[in-house]
Amino acid sequence: MKKIIVTGGAGFIGSNLLNYLVPLQPDTLFINLDNLTYAANLHSLKGIEGAPNYKFEKTDISNPEAVAETFRRYGPDCVIHLAAESHVDRSIADPDAFMRTNIMGTFYLLEACRAHWKKDGDNLFHHVSTDEVYGSLGENGLFTEETRYDPSSPYSAAKAASDHIVKAYNRTYGLPIKLSNCSNNYGPRQFPEKLIPLMILNALEGKPLPIYGKGTNVRDWLYVLDHCEAIWLVVQKGRVGETYNIGGNSEKKNIDVVRSICKVLSEETGKPLAALEGLITYVADRPGHDLRYAIDASKISGELGWRPKETFESGLRKTIRWYLENNEWIEKVKTGEYRKWIAKNYGDRS
Ligand code: NAD
Ligand code: TYD
Repeated sequence: MKKIIVTGGAGFIGSNLLNYLVPLQPDTLFINLDNLTYAANLHSLKGIEGAPNYKFEKTDISNPEAVAETFRRYGPDCVIHLAAESHVDRSIADPDAFMRTNIMGTFYLLEACRAHWKKDGDNLFHHVSTDEVYGSLGENGLFTEETRYDPSSPYSAAKAASDHIVKAYNRTYGLPIKLSNCSNNYGPRQFPEKLIPLMILNALEGKPLPIYGKGTNVRDWLYVLDHCEAIWLVVQKGRVGETYNIGGNSEKKNIDVVRSICKVLSEETGKPLAALEGLITYVADRPGHDLRYAIDASKISGELGWRPKETFESGLRKTIRWYLENNEWIEKVKTGEYRKWIAKNYGDRS
């Protein structure tokens, strides 16, 4: 039986990936390696936790002995690496864990692969990364796989470092690696510190919708299941040593995203649109706030035939319906730690 370690499988993208892959690939054992930080939610894995081809392993990737022990126990053929500290604002407030997990954690995983995998074996380390490593675009242009790295935040700088280390292990040791760098994901099971779920939950509770700066920063929005399909395609059919950019073809200004959320929420719940839009509040900008991200996905679409299935409109409606229907999941994440973060981040901005 093929064995794949998915790191960060209790987080947003990892849990969606496992919910997609575990039933799809019954002859592969998926080992979810995650140390359950604030961003993890085991409730996201309820649908697959009893599956015979799924195992959960609580391991901290920034602990090299623990990583080596998990590798010894399972002897994985492949690693799909998603575990990371992932929130830009937290990286500005407290960068320490970002360096430990995103840089050193990636390094320890690569070392474990190097120690366990034979040269010319049928193995793969797939590194999931972000378009934020490329820094900010101006009004025009798109990120390609050739765009120079120019990260702005401690988060994106740490992810950039991890990308370079992954590529170095390929060039120096011949480790079989692939990378994918994607734009902003949204969809079910996303922790409500990120723009879209934060706005949905705040709007439902009648709380302010805090927009950084003027709300004119642009992000390209990728529905999480489109991203999961792209990752699996690259793992199976992408060329070893290559990077693939993945984007949703959905560039939006933040203010337009928030207005769309208000509109769909109003349609889905019957709450008056004017009351929801009245919650929009402009707050102090994020330091080093990148103006615009946008992806040229022609490499993955040309080589592998991938295209996003969702438009922003269809994906946003699915996302909002999911949050309206999954109150139990929402209650699990609203811990004391969550409330502390909200008070700290938004208390300082107003
Ligand atoms: P997330 O914050 O929702 O989840 C991260 C997961 O990693 C959590 O389950 C957490 O417990 C785990 N983790 C953190 N530190 C760990 C450690 N030291 N050891 C083991 N596990 C640890 O993140 P996400 O949004 O699902 O992102 C997943 C990956 O995709 C990240 O590498 C991120 O950089 C990348 N990415 C995310 C986006 C996005 O929009 N969310 C966009 C581009 C790239
Ligand atoms: P975020 O979801 O944190 O993703 P990233 O910083 O990785 O792009 O933020 C998306 C955009 O929304 C970004 O331009 C910052 C902005 N934003 C707000 O305006 N208000 C908020 O409360 C948050 C969390 C983000």
